[in-house]
Amino acid sequence: MGTEQKVAVITGASQGFGAALVKAYRDLNYRVIANSRSIKPSKDSDVLAIAGDVADPKTADRIVQDGLARFGRIDTLINNAGIFIAKPLVDYTEEDYASMLATNLGGFFRVTKRVAAEMLKQGSGHIVQITTSLIDHANSNVPSVLASITKGGLNAATNPGDRIRKKGRSGLTLSLPRHEDADARSRNT
Ligand SMILES: NC(=O)c1ccc[n+]([C@@H]2O[C@H](COP(=O)([O-])OP(=O)(O)OC[C@H]3O[C@@H](n4cnc5c(N)ncnc54)[C@H](OP(=O)(O)O)[C@@H]3O)[C@@H](O)[C@H]2O)c1
Repeated sequence: MGTEQKVAVITGASQGFGAALVKAYRDLNYRVIANSRSIKPSKDSDVLAIAGDVADPKTADRIVQDGLARFGRIDTLINNAGIFIAKPLVDYTEEDYASMLATNLGGFFRVTKRVAAEMLKQGSGHIVQITTSLIDHANSNVPSVLASITKGGLNAATNPGDRIRKKGRSGLTLSLPRHEDADARSRNT
């Protein structure tokens, strides 16, 4: 991949795991495109904050267009933005359903398809989903079927057999692209 400074997109970056990931990637000398609805501009010139709802296609467009205009490349995407609402199935509201679907699945789809297109042009890239171990290990003390459905969709999309490398308990790394020639190149980066 050469010596050019790498760039990571991190969604849900204003707090929690996402904010910690921004710091961790900066410590690795990555430049970072950091998104959340309420995120504030950063004093760090190597962090570009893109405020917006990840479920909105226009936010995904800005993440990629403004990110490329500022940093010129995208090497890693971490789909971290997510909503977790723990309730028994019968208590979920239509609003719970709509918001979890929009953020957890819609956000993944809109950002990933745009970022993956750029990675395919580059010939390399990594996409990481932050999901939940509750998908595979349901816990009656934490009833959360909507989290399992929506985060489980990300696991399903990130499951092309031997192209997966497990990352911790709740995330997956997918070597992109799946195109054979480019996949060989990505293994060499
Ligand atoms: N904490 C856990 O124990 C745990 C366990 C398993 C999986 N997870 C998953 O790990 C991820 C991070 O968890 P966390 O505990 O760090 O969450 P958190 O503290 O609630 O932070 C969520 C982040 O996502 C952003 N966000 C929420 N909805 C968004 C939207 N529609 N568009 C853009 N950004 C949005 C929030 O910022 P704004 O409000 O500014 O948008 C915030 O930065 C989530 O996907 C969660 O499901 C967490």
